[in-house]
Amino acid sequence: MIGHSNYSATAVAHPSLALVKYWGKERTGINIPATASLGVSLAALTTTTTVTLSDGDSVTVDGRRLDGERELARFVPVFEALRRELAEPNGLPADFGFEVVSKNDFPTAAGLASSASGFAALVTAACAAAGRGDVSKRRRSEIARIGSGSAARSVFGGFVLWEAGAVGAVEFRDDRWWPSLRVVVLPVSEGPKGLSSRDGMNRTRDTSPYYPAWVADAPKLVAACRDAVEKRDLDALGPIMRRSYLRMFGTMLAADPPVLYWLPATLAVLHRLDALRAQGIPVWDTMDAGPQVKVFTTEEHVPALLESCSALCTADPIVSTVGGPARVVEGSP
Ligand code: PMV
Repeated sequence: MIGHSNYSATAVAHPSLALVKYWGKERTGINIPATASLGVSLAALTTTTTVTLSDGDSVTVDGRRLDGERELARFVPVFEALRRELAEPNGLPADFGFEVVSKNDFPTAAGLASSASGFAALVTAACAAAGRGDVSKRRRSEIARIGSGSAARSVFGGFVLWEAGAVGAVEFRDDRWWPSLRVVVLPVSEGPKGLSSRDGMNRTRDTSPYYPAWVADAPKLVAACRDAVEKRDLDALGPIMRRSYLRMFGTMLAADPPVLYWLPATLAVLHRLDALRAQGIPVWDTMDAGPQVKVFTTEEHVPALLESCSALCTADPIVSTVGGPARVVEGSP
């Protein structure tokens, strides 16, 4: 039995919100992306995860212990990769387990990328618990990716690039690059999403006639996005972001059966943002595998955005700056 406080560590991580989206996996390998993506880490949303090395594997998320093969399926290959990475150099027994206790300060599985921050924090805490705080971000990104693709980006802070076909992500610009940038999450539903991003992606790849066009078009969006971030040019970035997510949803709508994450309130917010842009207020939307709308703007325009959109939301909007990487902290959730 090795489960005691000497083999325990806590890490925090933030979700990685994609400016240009990953949607679609290669048929071979686990979570190898068909399209390159560029994400930004959200400081205002945090997952805190404690990992203790133990006799067996267990996972508790927001106070609920996950149970059964289905709930633990995504964790099993991550635990196996971590055991391979960590056992040998530390003289630990090859069959040790991970006791994982994780907490999100935002709704789980509602399209706010809790799996991204979750797996990034889990892998970072597990390495530290085994006395291997030296495992590189790149290597942690590769292992976190096995649990959730976007977790490959969450290991890093700032603006992060994940190339098509790549097993891990790389930092593009750090969290100090664009201090005036704000990302505002506008929640329009409290419930969990109906279809996982994994199932949505696979169905889209396997049945949407638009999928090949989506994949073929993606590289030029990433190139343009990199350029806009490099220039901190929100008016250039906004239309690129919208093209990326709306084309992603276009290919989903053409899947069989169609994949539809939007709610009536989603559309109400999108039209409100259109009206604000028509008044010259730079508010640029993006969305993921859920109904919530996320808006990129700058600090000075946040009050106008909140005044216009808060009444359409089901919970308080969350205003975020750009966050840092997954990192070890003191204390447990
Ligand atoms: O890696 P997952 O299962 O969290 O899927 C991420 C999919 C999107 O959020 C829609 C896009 C992205 O690049 O984050």
